Amino acid sequence: MDLSKCTVLIVGGTSGIGRELARRFAAAGSTVAVGGRSAEALAELSGEGIGTFEIDVTDGASVARARDAVLARYPELDTVVTMSGVMLLEDLRTPEHFEAAQTTIDTNLVGTIRVIDAFTPHLVGRGAGTFVTVTSGIAFLPFPPMPTYAASKAAVHAYSEALRAQLGGTGVDVVELVPPAVATAGQEKVNPHALPLDDFAAEVMQLLSQSPTPDEILVERVLMHRWAERDGTYDDLVAQRSGALAMLPSRRT
Ligand SMILES: NC(=O)c1ccc[n+]([C@@H]2O[C@H](COP(=O)([O-])OP(=O)(O)OC[C@H]3O[C@@H](n4cnc5c(N)ncnc54)[C@H](OP(=O)(O)O)[C@@H]3O)[C@@H](O)[C@H]2O)c1
Repeated sequence: MDLSKCTVLIVGGTSGIGRELARRFAAAGSTVAVGGRSAEALAELSGEGIGTFEIDVTDGASVARARDAVLARYPELDTVVTMSGVMLLEDLRTPEHFEAAQTTIDTNLVGTIRVIDAFTPHLVGRGAGTFVTVTSGIAFLPFPPMPTYAASKAAVHAYSEALRAQLGGTGVDVVELVPPAVATAGQEKVNPHALPLDDFAAEVMQLLSQSPTPDEILVERVLMHRWAERDGTYDDLVAQRSGALAMLPSRRT
């Protein structure tokens, strides 16, 4: 895709990866809007010339309101990124984890579906455009301390594949961004070896700029997760990653 000519909405663009990509799309010459709940973060981005929209992806009415406001201001919108997500640790030996599981599915999976549904008529109507969905290396190689997170991202992967097939022939592409551990605020606690955000974002922009855009945006660091099953390393890597269960509060001695 031509990153200098997009009109892009990044839902979940108020922090971390979404905010960094928003700034890079804007720097490349695209028109950029972001959505999220944090009024403070939206005000900061608005000060940088980025269009901002309040949206809670767990609330269908909020998504519909944001969609109407975005399309009124940007009728030429051609790219929608479903970046919103939560990454929660869960201890499956305690029933209290259920609330985290529910929030994770409602935000990461159902939230993605709500946003895609809201913008599908617009993109299909214009006969051209791109949905960028966001999964994770964890969709392909579970990280046992975040079980519902892994399930939600594996589900978004499967959904993205079906969406691509269903939108075939409409001119609307579906691109799945598959980040490895990236050093955003959400990750620093969990993984001190996470990829620096700048390095990740630079590689993503380079991969996105290819024509045609690949179905999956896979930076070098995520290849071992994406292809673990094919490469026969899956069982060993899951066993190795199970060592991280020690980070759960109940397992700390
Ligand atoms: N960082 C990593 O290591 C990593 C790895 C793989 C995949 N990912 C995925 O990449 C995406 C961004 O992650 P990040 O690390 O940049 O996290 P982050 O800094 O915590 O950003 C999460 C974004 O999601 C938004 N969000 C959360 N709940 C929302 C809701 N109910 N409605 C609307 N927006 C909501 C937040 O905005 P508000 O709080 O303003 O609503 C924020 O903009 C997520 O989908 C995550 O799963 C991250």
